[in-house]
Amino acid sequence: MTIIFHTPRLYLRRFTLADAPLVQQLNSDPAVLRYLHEPPLETVEHAEEILRTIILPQYENKLGRWAIHISNTHEFIGWCGLKYRPELDEIDLGYRLKPSAWGNGYAFEAAQHTIQYGLKELQLTCITGRAHVENTASLNILEKLGMQFIKEEIVDNCPVKTYIIRNK
Ligand SMILES: CC(C)(COP(=O)(O)OP(=O)(O)OC[C@H]1O[C@@H](n2cnc3c(N)ncnc32)[C@H](O)[C@@H]1OP(=O)(O)O)[C@@H](O)C(=O)NCCC(=O)NCCS
Repeated sequence: MTIIFHTPRLYLRRFTLADAPLVQQLNSDPAVLRYLHEPPLETVEHAEEILRTIILPQYENKLGRWAIHISNTHEFIGWCGLKYRPELDEIDLGYRLKPSAWGNGYAFEAAQHTIQYGLKELQLTCITGRAHVENTASLNILEKLGMQFIKEEIVDNCPVKTYIIRNK
């Protein structure tokens, strides 16, 4: 198992192809997908394809979406991480948790340490965060992280609020 870092209550690790059932379950939950511009993942085979073609290749440059586990129980609760978006030339902060794990500050904790890892360990100059204008839980996280609101815009056909945080 490749652990990226620990936080007070969590650890984040790289996904592997064996995680396809976890990814399929997460990405087929309507509550999770509510503000996301993507269709539900119907099968484990499709989840395996997403892992092979999208998630795992991002690990080549130390970035990527990482599986989040609760340290005490090892329960998988979702993912958080940094993704390079070549079409925007940006490093994007993202997070997605199972509804059963919401409301505990886990997403904030994972995102806070992901930003620290990106700025300190990877020496990134800037990280971008975006959320749908109605996704108040996610906007709340971006605000609490101390990210700076830049603008409202349409990205991937969605109205979003865009935030950034720069390296000092
Ligand atoms: C966005 C998402 C990750 C937010 O999850 P969340 O659990 O609401 O967010 P947090 O982890 O920050 O938890 C927030 C709440 O936990 C509570 N909490 C409990 N214990 C806590 C602790 N030790 N530390 C911090 N917060 C704690 C607080 O009430 C806090 O709310 P507040 O900041 O208003 O006080 C979740 O809704 C999700 O996965 N949605 C689906 C995917 C998605 O939309 N992703 C974002 C795309 S832009």
